Amino acid sequence: MANSKMLWGGRFSATPKGAIRSFLSSENISLDTRFLPYDIEGSMAHVCMLCKQGILKKQEAAPILRALLQLQARAGKNELALDAELEDVHMNVEAEATKLTPEAKKMHTARSRNDQVSLDTRLYLRHEMNKTSRQLVLLVKELAFLSKRKTIFPSYTHMQIAQPITLSFYCRAYADAFARDFSRISECYCRINLNPLGAGAVAGTTWNIDREHTASLLGFSGVQQSPLDVVTSRGEMEAELIFALTMLLTHAGRVAEDICLLSSKRIAILSDSTSTGSSMMPQKKNPDPMELLRGKTARMHGLLMHSLSLMKGLPSGYNMDSQESKYAVMHALDTAQECIPVLCEVLATIDFDADAIKEELEKGYACATELADLLARKGVPFRSAHEITGKLVKGRIAKKKYLSALAASEVSQLAGVKITEPELQAALNVDKTSRMHSPISSDFIAPLQKAIAEREERILAAKKLLEKEVKQITG
Ligand code: ARG
Repeated sequence: MANSKMLWGGRFSATPKGAIRSFLSSENISLDTRFLPYDIEGSMAHVCMLCKQGILKKQEAAPILRALLQLQARAGKNELALDAELEDVHMNVEAEATKLTPEAKKMHTARSRNDQVSLDTRLYLRHEMNKTSRQLVLLVKELAFLSKRKTIFPSYTHMQIAQPITLSFYCRAYADAFARDFSRISECYCRINLNPLGAGAVAGTTWNIDREHTASLLGFSGVQQSPLDVVTSRGEMEAELIFALTMLLTHAGRVAEDICLLSSKRIAILSDSTSTGSSMMPQKKNPDPMELLRGKTARMHGLLMHSLSLMKGLPSGYNMDSQESKYAVMHALDTAQECIPVLCEVLATIDFDADAIKEELEKGYACATELADLLARKGVPFRSAHEITGKLVKGRIAKKKYLSALAASEVSQLAGVKITEPELQAALNVDKTSRMHSPISSDFIAPLQKAIAEREERILAAKKLLEKEVKQITG
């Protein structure tokens, strides 16, 4: 054999070296390192299943499982470095196991690296999705905490002041958005949490395997039936997750942008520990972390395009292009997982200047709609009330005065209806916004926590089942 290391070397008299070898596997090996614990776990489940089905005898399966247990322990201590010469994690695990027992040469019966890589990806993604979901819960908790602060807040359309709201009203909007991101990830999780093992290279296998069994040993909720679909759909779950993460960062980036804008008006006061200064201008306090977070969304767009473009125009079956999908999804997860705690920290330490908010609302004639509504409640048709209020605003702007300085008599006269002073003040007082202070309750968060706990319990139960079966075989 030209290169005795290659597990597929039989039909070759030369194998890739130098630039070609490095092109095929250098970057891939560093990405695959993240798959190592899952590749070993998946191999254990596969070998247990082969043994249960009588494809491997107990005396063949036992030494393989013992070897895999050893590798698992070494991997846990970071003592199992992957060799790029061996292309990928799958070949590395098999080669290392074979160093420990020749029986390991039988472990690849009835599987291919193509169903194996899909398996590793799913096990890895499940773990990372649960981690991201937990981070999202912390973010929603931070918003819930902030929503307890009783303060009015500005709302905008076209970046112009719209109407007075409360901080809790604002927080609720993003709690809803992040909860939607959470459920998008959960829905994607359901599609990912299916067993691909048994798909083989593309056409399944004629060995009498039990796909349900490996599914239960690995905590999958079912089996992805079509082998051709398992292999051809590579990249799809990655793209779907990247989309969910991109939306998440779009939401986080929007909060970041709001914070940048509000801090430029000194309405939002960032903690010194979450802002930075200028090397030249001594007075500056800049919202760098928030701008960088906003910028990270661009990276997500790139990764999303990357993952979508990878699939377009590929023929059915396995194509090496799909190896690139690992890069996209791993970096997207890294980016999201880096950004969420940053936003949490900023929200946990942010302050708001109530006087500056009041001034912003007054300056923006934010209560004009309330005034038009008051006139309409008194019987003026809303369209006329709108016109009258518009004229009042125009006059105030000309006199450089705020709406709150209006007199009830002036309004009554113009509108032709009787408005009392207290009624007018109730409508024009920015502090008395009709958007009530309403903190986010723990009922909002509990179902999110429950969903993660259920997913994690299922994984843990499967781990125990696998451990038990490995013990039964290894004795
Ligand atoms: N490292 C490969 C990947 O990520 C595994 C599958 C390789 N299969 C193949 N026929 N080259 O896609």
